[in-house]
Amino acid sequence: MSDAKKLRFPKEFLWGASTSAHQIEGGNHNQWSIWELENAKALAMQAEYKLDEMERWDDIRAAATDPANYVSGKVIDHFHRYKDDFDLLDKLHLNAFRFSVEWSRIEPKEGLWDGKAIEHYRKYIAELQRRNITPVMTLLHFTLPEWFAKKGGFEHRRNIKYFVRYVEYVMTQLGDKVPYVITMNEPEIYAVQSYLHAEWPPQKHSMKLCLWVLSNQLSAHNKAAKIIHRLNRGHKVSIAKNTAHYYLGDDEPMTRYATRLYQLLQDDLIWRRVVKHCDFIGVNHYFSNRIKGSAVKNPNNNTNDLGWDMQPDNLQMVLERLYRKYKKPIMITENGLADMHDKRRKWWLAHTLVALSGAIANDVKLIGYLHWSLLDNFEWAYGRWPRFGLIEVDYKTLKRQIRPSGRWFGTIVGKLRKDSW
Ligand code: BGC
Repeated sequence: MSDAKKLRFPKEFLWGASTSAHQIEGGNHNQWSIWELENAKALAMQAEYKLDEMERWDDIRAAATDPANYVSGKVIDHFHRYKDDFDLLDKLHLNAFRFSVEWSRIEPKEGLWDGKAIEHYRKYIAELQRRNITPVMTLLHFTLPEWFAKKGGFEHRRNIKYFVRYVEYVMTQLGDKVPYVITMNEPEIYAVQSYLHAEWPPQKHSMKLCLWVLSNQLSAHNKAAKIIHRLNRGHKVSIAKNTAHYYLGDDEPMTRYATRLYQLLQDDLIWRRVVKHCDFIGVNHYFSNRIKGSAVKNPNNNTNDLGWDMQPDNLQMVLERLYRKYKKPIMITENGLADMHDKRRKWWLAHTLVALSGAIANDVKLIGYLHWSLLDNFEWAYGRWPRFGLIEVDYKTLKRQIRPSGRWFGTIVGKLRKDSW
């Protein structure tokens, strides 16, 4: 896109990037880190037959078949290097940053608060503020303290109180400096991956349990949101929800019916339960799904390194649909792609910018765009090989280097912020 002039964004628009604690901090001890150590070998062995059909198999084989890939360990050591990483946000002209605080650091044992951990996050947030970067804080991004997981996590309604108590504690300690709060990231993905597909800890396989865990998380959000608002009505609270775009693969009645149903289930099942307790809608958008008959049948002629079908323009429809439905401002809390050779990221970003600007022109109230991710990071059960960063990280030296697409994005954002109205 040569013509940034045609794109118009409001002055207060948040331009940022998104991350999560476990994926970048390093040195965490939680239910995931325990699971990684127990499962690294198995995951490396399974890669041979689970991932070998991937278009980029030759590029990823070495990492994907190495058990070390599946252990987060010190990952990219953001815990100690955050100031340098924030300098890079500045270099990219970004004015917002989404991060998560790690529950297992803050409450390593039931009811025992770690003052040092809070102090760390206090300094962390202060560093963002010093740079005029708006913090968007997530309270739960897939990782649970070991003690909470041992109690069954969100499998039990009675455990919701522990999460709510943690939220109250964190907000009392850190809340005054954080305008935007995401109580939890993708409760639906967590429930499905951990309790239906059995791909993530605790690897259970039960539809009933999956729905129950989801339901408990949503109740936990509603309770937590009430407390956050009670502490300070000024906080803007939401969840971040994965939101695909579904579209018709043919004109058959079955396809029409199924597409509508998929979209309804995706948009309504969760938002209807929580929207009253949300000040905005948090959208994580990565892919589109084409429906034929009753199934997802994607064309797959333009996929990212994880095989996800890429149609970035569809983001505009996602935003317009959600805004029409819920009439709440929207924040794009995640959007991006795994692209190790940085061949498609610039194209993706260019189309995404047009989609955002189009949605704004059609009256969608858009708060901001947070790209996933600022830095290469630990991509859960896939480990380290998927590369989502605007900034490349060498896992041996931990050296950071802005990718060409990241540089381009930073330049455009700089211009857009100058030209904003
Ligand atoms: C999650 C991130 C993840 C990203 C890419 C989102 O669903 O919130 O943690 O890294 O997708 O898979």
